[in-house]
Amino acid sequence: MLAVLFCSGVFAQGKFQGIGRAATAAEIAAWDIDVRPDFKGLPPGEGSVRNGEDLWEAKCASCHGTFGESNAVFPPIVGGTTAADIDKGRVAALTRPNEGRTTLMKLSQISTLWDYISRSMPWNAPKTLGADEVYALTAYILNQGRIVPDEFVLSDRNIAEVQKRLPNRDGMRRDHGLWETKGRADVKATACMKNCGPEPHIVSQLPEHARNTHGNLADQNRLIGPARGVNTAAGQPAALSAHGDQARGLAEKSGCLACHGARQRLVGPSLAEIASRYRTDNGAEPRLAAKVISGGQGAWGSVPMPAQPQLQESDVRALIRWILTSE
Ligand code: HEC
Ligand code: HEC
Repeated sequence: MLAVLFCSGVFAQGKFQGIGRAATAAEIAAWDIDVRPDFKGLPPGEGSVRNGEDLWEAKCASCHGTFGESNAVFPPIVGGTTAADIDKGRVAALTRPNEGRTTLMKLSQISTLWDYISRSMPWNAPKTLGADEVYALTAYILNQGRIVPDEFVLSDRNIAEVQKRLPNRDGMRRDHGLWETKGRADVKATACMKNCGPEPHIVSQLPEHARNTHGNLADQNRLIGPARGVNTAAGQPAALSAHGDQARGLAEKSGCLACHGARQRLVGPSLAEIASRYRTDNGAEPRLAAKVISGGQGAWGSVPMPAQPQLQESDVRALIRWILTSE
């Protein structure tokens, strides 16, 4: 909201005369959707755990798992919290370094969960949920963490009470140097704009013989988003089938295997299924390549493949040729 007011303020002072126009009240309202920890900005409404369960099945479970436990690809939302944490307001598992982190473990403000779902989920169709649907989905997630009971109806009237039961409600810290910046950025680096040297690469610290002993780390970490595993299979051709090594590496690097298992349906159909449908279809290669780049849905169900405009067409063609030979 601040940014919009600032722009229209500058406009009103006449600094940029003849350029643009003041944002209308309706335009500002459309941007101004944030929900604050004190619940300012939260629209009135309500939604039950039961309704949330149906919505979750229809719109969220394909990526986050039926109980929010998530599959290998997307972040787990539920898990890792206990009844003792709810009493205490601090999640004990967070102090144990080697345990995974779920959304409910970290969440200190229920407004953040409501706001995040409302503005950015489902991933493939953000801002399509009505307020009552967001209440219902939030209620369902909280119910999976045993924070609210099965019959619960979450609303703007009782959300402040539910905040008092969040397992990690006392987990917010402000002593990390990012809270109070006194108007300065928190980094001292100077931005490099040209001749900046090679791109940084994550380097495995493991000795060569141990690199791949736990399987390829890149297969086990999220391929979508900033956290990617090191490809420990690279340089170990024996671990992969000789045929299609390069294409497989490309599929890994491009994130395809996050959604397509060799024989297993993940978010999308398995590679073997795709191959058996199109293997004898002569026009398939360019058509499928175009779809991979621009995204689409309907051939296998209602879950869409997102557009992937960052890919080179020649790479995608090679990937399709490789997929069509998989068994
Ligand atoms: C097509 C896959 C997909 C669907 C469908 C989907 N999500 Fe997500 N969701 C994601 C991804 C990917 C992220 C992580 C985004 C990021 O880190 O930038 C995410 C993150 C989240 C998070 C935050 C997790 C965290 O701790 O940061 C919540 C909460 C969430 N989704 C709820 C939902 C709800 C509710 C729905 C259904 C209305 C839904 N998602 C549907 C892919 C999906
Ligand atoms: C976020 C998940 C996701 C990612 C990443 C992804 N796909 Fe898909 N893909 C899907 C889904 C879902 C479908 C089914 C779409 C449909 O029903 O039309 C699909 C369908 C396909 C199809 C069949 C299309 C058709 O019309 O039958 C091919 C081929 C394909 N993907 C290749 C790829 C390749 C190659 C990559 C990597 C560059 C990739 N996909 C990355 C989710 C994904």
